Amino acid sequence: MCTAPIAVFDSGLGGLSVLRELVRLMPGENFIYFGDSANAPYGCRSTEEIRRLTLNHAKRLFSQGAKALVVACNTATSAAIDELRRSYPHKIIIGIEPALKPAVDRFPGGKILVMATDATLREQKFAALLSRYAADCDIHKCPCPELVAFVERGELDSPKLHEVLRKELAGHLEPLPQGAVLGCTHYPFLKTAISRVLGEQCILFDGSEGTATQTRRRLELAGLLSPLEKGSICLENSLSEPRLRELALKLLELP
Ligand code: DGL
Repeated sequence: MCTAPIAVFDSGLGGLSVLRELVRLMPGENFIYFGDSANAPYGCRSTEEIRRLTLNHAKRLFSQGAKALVVACNTATSAAIDELRRSYPHKIIIGIEPALKPAVDRFPGGKILVMATDATLREQKFAALLSRYAADCDIHKCPCPELVAFVERGELDSPKLHEVLRKELAGHLEPLPQGAVLGCTHYPFLKTAISRVLGEQCILFDGSEGTATQTRRRLELAGLLSPLEKGSICLENSLSEPRLRELALKLLELP
């Protein structure tokens, strides 16, 4: 049993889609959420830069006494999770990866899009994931570099977003896919707009629930779950703009 906080990290506000699930599953935990909005988007940075930023933030979060770190960012996970685990071999470190498995299980032989940042799609981790499932489905890689900025400014549905989505998804719409994997933690906040372009019958998959379940499982195994009935959430951001806090609270959809 341990009331030390669980640190949750993302390049910006996207990881709140994971924090939302973590809080739902473990309401008694204390959380520190750190969004690096000052440096977002990570998806167009080099692997070395993403690694450096992620390691710096992890160091600070562990020095604040975090009992676990959830890297709620597919891009940072792809670029830095191995190095993080090497640097902190005794810490619980959970990453997130595109939820391709549930999509392939649901639509064997079907057409599946994987929407993610350029960095996630170019990394070795994704190549390994793809090679596991490529034979079972018609999988399309779909980089969506412009979507993160919409979430960061709280523009979750607008004609401009619709236009950008149509542009980024063009070439993947005929025939429409059966499933789309939201391989960036920002994208679940754009589900309504994405569904409008891909069609309501296209099922959207994201890894937030799986990541939350895995985090609870690891804490339970280590005997580190919190005994509290209700925990707290501390929101931190590398940009000190009051509008970000308001937007974060809105995205978290907490009572
Ligand atoms: N939310 C992040 C992810 O899951 C990255 C967004 C970005 O900064 O490019 O990949």
